Amino acid sequence: MKKVFVTRQIPDIGLDRLRQACEVEVWEEELPPPDEVLQEAIGRVDGLLCMLTDKIDAALIAKAAPDLHVISQYAVGVDNIDLKAATKKAIAVGHTPDVLTEATADLAFALLMAAARRLNEAAQFVYEANWRTWSPTAFIGQDVYGATLGIIGMGRIGQAVAKRARGFDMRVVYHSRSAVTLPEGLDAEALSLDELLTQADFVSLHAPLTLETTHLIDAWALRLMKPNAILVNTARGGLVDHQALLAALKSGQIAGAALDVTEPEPIPDNAPLLDLPNCLIVPHIGSASVRARQRMAKMAVDNLLAGLEGRRLPYCANPEVYG
Ligand code: NAP
Ligand code: GLV
Ligand code: GLV
Repeated sequence: MKKVFVTRQIPDIGLDRLRQACEVEVWEEELPPPDEVLQEAIGRVDGLLCMLTDKIDAALIAKAAPDLHVISQYAVGVDNIDLKAATKKAIAVGHTPDVLTEATADLAFALLMAAARRLNEAAQFVYEANWRTWSPTAFIGQDVYGATLGIIGMGRIGQAVAKRARGFDMRVVYHSRSAVTLPEGLDAEALSLDELLTQADFVSLHAPLTLETTHLIDAWALRLMKPNAILVNTARGGLVDHQALLAALKSGQIAGAALDVTEPEPIPDNAPLLDLPNCLIVPHIGSASVRARQRMAKMAVDNLLAGLEGRRLPYCANPEVYG
């Protein structure tokens, strides 16, 4: 029987099927397995099912057992995995696109609306027993309806967010790396990055973390944004220079930010961003819906089993491995 290591508890719908097909070891703890545990495990299994919190770098991949030909990630983003090193060792890397697109787009929109209308500040005000009267002047926020939404990275999730914006009569503009063919009925205008930043009331990030997108939103980018603008990040923390964001939020250069992802994760307890009322931070919950997580589990297991059986992975992040 083939052996696999699963780096965290995932929904039973995936694990049960895996257990029928192979010998499964699951890391049951709340926190990710330490590097030593990963190093030891990868040296003796035929397949690895990992999370975005596991650092699968070249050094770890070098320790993989000769019979390990599949790493299946329980996420769509694979910036934690050295794809080049995996390809070189003939290891196919699986991931989970599409099935989490709508859940993540829902969260991006929830963050956009929460930040626009200052929900975190207003709720805290109530829970701290400060609500004395209706106020004509308190918690004045930004209009969502009819505003301009700028999407950076117009892929699966970017387009799903654009679709939601139609219901709010928003003007949608986007900046993406390659030319994008938009589905029928989705009206959005392609702009350069600086045009987008100067025009958008909301800037929502949906590009993967790469060398090119690291600190894409830096001091220069933030200076181009409107004073009423709100930055939403459900992509990866590394897209944003957090020092520059802190300065822009403190000085009122932009109105607010809502982050599902930070750099590093988790954000340190003493991070100055946590003290800013105009910064809303949630703990990387983009795909955390019942349906998305079940479908991710199924897809991650499909990928793993395909790899173990020597078949092409249905959702492969390094197709170049097949030559
Ligand atoms: P996707 O379909 O591949 O979309 C990413 C888009 O970004 C593509 O259109 C891509 O263009 C574009 N892009 C790449 N580099 C760029 C650059 N330098 N500047 C502008 N655009 C660029 O991926 P997706 O499924 O929408 O997921 C996007 C990302 O969201 C993932 O990589 C992941 O990091 C993050 N994510 C987060 C959560 C969460 O829980 N918060 C959940 C799911 C995903 P090309 O076609 O040219 O590559
Ligand atoms: C989550 O962040 C993912 O990339 O799936
Ligand atoms: C507000 O509650 C209003 O009635 O305008």
